[in-house]
Amino acid sequence: MTPATEPRATASQTLARCRELVQPALVAAVERLHPWLADMAAHSLGWTKAHAGFVPGPQGKGVRQALTVLCAEAAGAPADCALAGAVTVELVHTFSLVHDDIMDGDETRRQRESTWMAYGPGPAILAGDAMCALAAQVLCESPAAQGGAAVRHLADALHDMARGQADDLCFEFRPWTGPDAVRVREYRSMAEHKTGALLGCATGLGAVLAGAPAATVAGLTRAGRHLGVAFQAVDDLLGIWGDPQDTGKPAHGDLRRLKKTYPVLAALASDTPAARRLTGILASGGTLDDAGARRAADLIEEAGGRSATRSEAQRHLDRAHDCLTALDLEPTACDEIRTLLPFFIHRRA
Ligand code: IPE
Ligand code: IPE
Ligand code: MG
Ligand code: MG
Repeated sequence: MTPATEPRATASQTLARCRELVQPALVAAVERLHPWLADMAAHSLGWTKAHAGFVPGPQGKGVRQALTVLCAEAAGAPADCALAGAVTVELVHTFSLVHDDIMDGDETRRQRESTWMAYGPGPAILAGDAMCALAAQVLCESPAAQGGAAVRHLADALHDMARGQADDLCFEFRPWTGPDAVRVREYRSMAEHKTGALLGCATGLGAVLAGAPAATVAGLTRAGRHLGVAFQAVDDLLGIWGDPQDTGKPAHGDLRRLKKTYPVLAALASDTPAARRLTGILASGGTLDDAGARRAADLIEEAGGRSATRSEAQRHLDRAHDCLTALDLEPTACDEIRTLLPFFIHRRA
C-alpha cells in the first residue's frame, strides 16, 4: 500500500501508468491480425507503422483500459491479472468507434482520417469485426478468465452496446416535438447502453478477473454504467462546444446532422422562447450548414441545454462515487479511481 505521505497520482499520471502496463499486450494482440487488418487497427488506434513495429501517435485517452486495471487492483488483485481484460475493452472500444464513424458519417477521429475514410467502408467494417473477434479471443485465453464469467460479462456489454447504437440511430427518425418526440429519459437509457455498457464492462471485468465476489462485480459494473452516462453527456457537450484541435473530431458534427443529443433535448424540454426558435431551425428539414449549427448552439445555451447537460453529467458522476463508497475496496486503488473520475467530466477531449 502507498504510504499516506506519498502524493496522490493525478488523473493523467494514472492514465499513463495504466497505458504503459497495457500497451505491450495490446500491440502483441494487434500483431496477430491479418497484416491488412492490423494496419487498419493500428490506424484506428492512432499508431503508425515503423521498422521497429508500431509507433504511438494521436491515441485515445485510454480510460477504459485504466478502469479495468484499477478495478482489479481495487478488488485486491495485482494489475497483471487484468491485462487481458484491459486489452479486450480497448479493442472493443476501438472497433465500436470504427463502426460508429461509418454510421455517423464522421470523417475525422483521433486527429486523423477515420478508418472508413482512409481505407473505405467495407474494409473498415471488416477491421472492426476482426478487432471485436480478437477482443473475445484475448479474453478467453486469459488464465484469469474465471471459466465463462469474463466472456459472459463481455457478451452482455456487446449486446447492450448494439442496443444503444440502435436506439441512437432510431432517434434520428423521430420528430422534434409532439407525442413521438424523444424524451430525456429515453436518451439516458440509450446513453447507458451505447456508452455505459462498455464502461461498465471495463470496471466489472477488472473485478471478474480479480476473482472478486458477485456483489463487487455488480457494484463496480453499476459505477461504470453511471460513468458512461456522464461521459456521453460530456461527449455531447464537446461535440458542440469542444475545440476540434482537442477532440480530434469535427466541430458541430452532431448538430449539422441533427442528432438528438442531451443538450438539444434538454433545451427543447425547457419550453422557453429560445427552445421554440431552436425547434424552428431543427425542424426546417435537411442538415444544418455551419451558420445554422452555430445559431442552434447559441439557442441551446440560451435555453439552458448546456448547463442542464453539465448537471446531468455531475449527477451520474456522484452516483458512480456512491457505488464505490458502498463497496469494500482496497483503499489506495480506490483513491486512484476517485482521483480519475472528475476527469470524466472536466476533460477537453
Ligand atoms: C468516444 O470515446 C466515444 C464515446 C463512447 C463517447 P472516447 O472519448 O473515450 O474516445 P478516445 O478513446 O479517447 O478516442
Ligand atoms: C459512440 O457514440 C458510442 C459508440 C461508439 C458505441 P457517439 O457517436 O456519440 O460518439 P462520438 O462522438 O462519435 O465519439
Ligand atoms: Mg459518433
Ligand atoms: Mg454515434
